[in-house]
Amino acid sequence: MSSVVIAIDGPAASGKGTLSRRVAEALGFAHLDTGSLYRAVGVAVLRAGKDPADAHFAAQTARALHPEDGILNDPELRSDEAAEAASKVAVVPEVRAALLDFQRGFAACPPGGLPGAVLDGRDVGTVVCPDATVKLFVTASVEVRADRRLKELRDRGIPAIPSDVLEDMKARDARDSQRAVAPLRPAGDAFVLDTSALTADQAFDAALALIGSKTGVGPLSALGR
Ligand code: C5P
Repeated sequence: MSSVVIAIDGPAASGKGTLSRRVAEALGFAHLDTGSLYRAVGVAVLRAGKDPADAHFAAQTARALHPEDGILNDPELRSDEAAEAASKVAVVPEVRAALLDFQRGFAACPPGGLPGAVLDGRDVGTVVCPDATVKLFVTASVEVRADRRLKELRDRGIPAIPSDVLEDMKARDARDSQRAVAPLRPAGDAFVLDTSALTADQAFDAALALIGSKTGVGPLSALGR
């Protein structure tokens, strides 16, 4: 039986990560944050003392990555330096190609024999899993996303200047959407969910309703499990 694949793409701080985790948990599916693969490559390049913009070294690092070894849970992947390095290695076509098989394998055969997988990222619905069962593109205005990011940084005790956070967000958006390979854009058959005026709970309810209407798959809690 083929697995149910839910592709959730969107820009930085759109809320797609939290949403994807909640959706996967509610449906009893596996979850893959594909951004963590790019972050892992970026961090490995930095640890080797190299420049993430060094395409040759980045590609070599991506080919040597073993995501199943637990590297994706390294807390250092969550840093701003890791995000910055990730968006630089992500423009290299050979890096993207090296990470494809792992992502497709995860979608086709979710770990633990689970019946489905939720993958979130930038190009899941367009490149990684163009035949995904349901595609969602989660977005919000750049100002709303910068505000969310600012709050998240302050909650973690990291001082941040609002105008810097907004500029960083715009720069990362530009890099992600203007690159030649797998740029950030909604798949033609994706459902666009703008969360600018939604709470996390409202976005979650909207996503589950859409998935339910397309697949008939509902939350495990509704089954009393
Ligand atoms: O989603 P996250 O912020 O962790 O992603 C970090 C960076 O990795 C993004 O800015 C993007 O450049 C890259 N990325 C990508 N394709 C994906 C996921 C992430 O290019 N599917």
